Amino acid sequence: MGNAATDRRMDRLISVLVKNATVVLPGPKIASQIGVTRTTVWNYVGKLRALGVDIQGHTSSGYQLRTLPDILAPSLIQPELGDNEIGRKLIHYFRIDSTNSTALALATDGAAEGTVVVAEEQTAGRGRFGRKWHSEKSSGIYASVILRPRLSPADAPAITLMAGVAAHRALTTATGLEVDIRWPNDLLVNGKKVCGILTEMSAELGRLHHVVLGIGVNVNNKSMPSELGGIATSLRMEGGRAYSRAQILVSLLRELERYYGVLKDQGNAPIVRAWAKASTYAQGKAVRVRTSDEDYPAVTAGLDPTGMLRIRRQDGKEESLVSGEITEVKR
Ligand code: BTN
Repeated sequence: MGNAATDRRMDRLISVLVKNATVVLPGPKIASQIGVTRTTVWNYVGKLRALGVDIQGHTSSGYQLRTLPDILAPSLIQPELGDNEIGRKLIHYFRIDSTNSTALALATDGAAEGTVVVAEEQTAGRGRFGRKWHSEKSSGIYASVILRPRLSPADAPAITLMAGVAAHRALTTATGLEVDIRWPNDLLVNGKKVCGILTEMSAELGRLHHVVLGIGVNVNNKSMPSELGGIATSLRMEGGRAYSRAQILVSLLRELERYYGVLKDQGNAPIVRAWAKASTYAQGKAVRVRTSDEDYPAVTAGLDPTGMLRIRRQDGKEESLVSGEITEVKR
């Protein structure tokens, strides 16, 4: 685990500053509202400034926000989620190793369905196939959602697709950009990756205990590390403007609530349909398939009812892909 979760009082300070953005608030008034000393308020202000929050003033004069902060603080996110289950409990960290590791540990300890762990920065963000996930401070969204579906492990592929469909809708509505889904759930803009999802679960024969959906979105990165050159991008780099991470996270959590509801109530079919509609990879795409022991060219041929990708090999044989990685081959 990383540092302690953001202090509830620090979260209240952010909320008090946002609610009073038009006035200079005296230090003692803030201190009494959040239940700490004036010196602690000063310390918190310093920490927030270090994170890029633009706060004007001093203990003697009082404090005022100069611009609204784009911080994923629970007090700013939760009011937008109404009575939703996903995000009812939201734990925010400034810095952590991996939100997925934390969420998995919390889930094992019995954390409720819908609990969300979110961080401004990860020091050991993980991707699929043991890769590292670039998790630059305050540029991206690093979130993990705990689910406890009454489904069997055979339904796991549909949960993965469900997360892709929800993220696709969230990013499309929040940015207006054209977003594609590469099987199973990478989100691409102009052919480059802006969002990845790592589904980790604990299951026994016939029963899923809990699932952690780890979602990473490159939002306001001005550039991507050279080793990712050409394959990864950010919403800002493609859209030519900065986006509110808080707004995108709200949209993401709402869409997850909605599509998880659809999956539980109506089963795999509507999820598989929505995925196929949103992705250019569903049908007729020339790809390279990489599994743990093979690497070969193929053409995609739809999804099967459980959400596995059908592919046609060059010898004409069709099969379903359970896991693995595909990349587009330009013809
Ligand atoms: C991939 O495309 O390889 C999946 C990337 C998943 C990254 C997210 S960021 C939040 C969560 N915590 C992690 O350590 N990984 C996931």
